[in-house]
Amino acid sequence: MTRKEFIAQVGINAAILLAPACITGLSSCKKKKEEKPRSVDFTLDISTGPLASNGGALINDGVIVARSTSGEFIAIDSACTHEGTNINYVSTTHSFKCPNHGATYDANGNVTTGPAVKSLTSYHCTLSGSSLQVFS
Ligand code: FES
Repeated sequence: MTRKEFIAQVGINAAILLAPACITGLSSCKKKKEEKPRSVDFTLDISTGPLASNGGALINDGVIVARSTSGEFIAIDSACTHEGTNINYVSTTHSFKCPNHGATYDANGNVTTGPAVKSLTSYHCTLSGSSLQVFS
């Protein structure tokens, strides 16, 4: 058997071995389930607590809500897209940082530093008096 014939035979055998695993979904060939965007709608009283002052933040219902140093409210999913650790708001840079492996996100939830690669979903914020509504 020549080297070329050997390599061709190994390739065919590998394909035969891997095909059943792909067909039955037992390997990485398995298609990932489509993620449906979740529905978010809650209201926070900002008259007390971390959101009562500029630079504060809190996590509610899987969403981190932050108040920038200029008083703007922003809300994005709190679970880092790398491995799910809750992120922190960094008021000095108006961004978010994961304490686990250091991924960073901008105020819109876009990844600015890995290892995370997927952006976080951001949500709308509407302030009425001291009631802040956060919704998708
Ligand atoms: S869990 Fe956030 S960077 Fe790894």
